[in-house]
Amino acid sequence: MHLIIMGPPGAGKGTQAERLTKEFSLLHISTGDIFRNAVKEGTEMGKKAKEYMDKGALVPDEIVIGIVRDRLSKPDCAGGVLLDGFPRTLEQAEALDEVLKELGMVFDAVINIDVNEEELINRLTGRRVCRNCGTTYHIKFNPPKVRTICDHCGGELYQRSDDTIETVKERLVVYKKQTMPMIEYYERKGILKNFDGARDINEVFTDIKTYLEGIK
Ligand code: AP5
Ligand code: MG
Repeated sequence: MHLIIMGPPGAGKGTQAERLTKEFSLLHISTGDIFRNAVKEGTEMGKKAKEYMDKGALVPDEIVIGIVRDRLSKPDCAGGVLLDGFPRTLEQAEALDEVLKELGMVFDAVINIDVNEEELINRLTGRRVCRNCGTTYHIKFNPPKVRTICDHCGGELYQRSDDTIETVKERLVVYKKQTMPMIEYYERKGILKNFDGARDINEVFTDIKTYLEGIK
């Protein structure tokens, strides 16, 4: 099964992706994570991406599309992937269709998670991420047992540099302008499924899981 998970910043894409990829044995491909790893490693691509990410802007399409094309071409994708954070412009969606045609891949569903803006701001400004294994927490909604330490691997928890209130507000503006038009694109293709993300993490997960079991 090949899936796309979309929704505004803080909707819970990463949180649900962690669970869904385990449940359905899928490969989690997050363009945000790819960029954050490149920043950590100090590569040229990482340096360029950081300039955009810290402003809350999107990394240019030509960079992102090339990365996803290369990643989807690898043999480990054949068993099923969950694309998180890509595509997020109409140009990227059209480019993805071309890549899928080239590779002979078909996507089964686009999971669209919706959450109101006030909740998104609360979620993002309280998010903490493990520096070592990437597990995501929230200081109130999904707290670790010890405030600064990852439950799974004991790694240090940090706050993403784009989770400041100013950058979060800009990311939400960019989402509405550049990413929301994609909802209609996938609606027209008949593969979009909407989920109310303003509920408990487990409730959202159960809902998506039930839907996916029905289309498997
Ligand atoms: P990316 O990393 O993809 O960030 P994003 O889309 O802004 O989404 P987030 O990761 O912030 O939120 P999420 O939906 O994953 O929420 P999470 O599960 O963590 O991209 C970052 C940047 O990279 C972009 O701004 C751009 O610059 C660049 N980029 C990436 N892809 C690109 C592309 N294709 N093109 C161009 N540029 C690109 O949850 C958030 C918090 O809420 C957590 O603390 C979590 O514990 C909590 N939470 C989750 N679900 C619930 C719930 N149901 N109830 C309560 N709390 C919850
Ligand atoms: Mg994420």
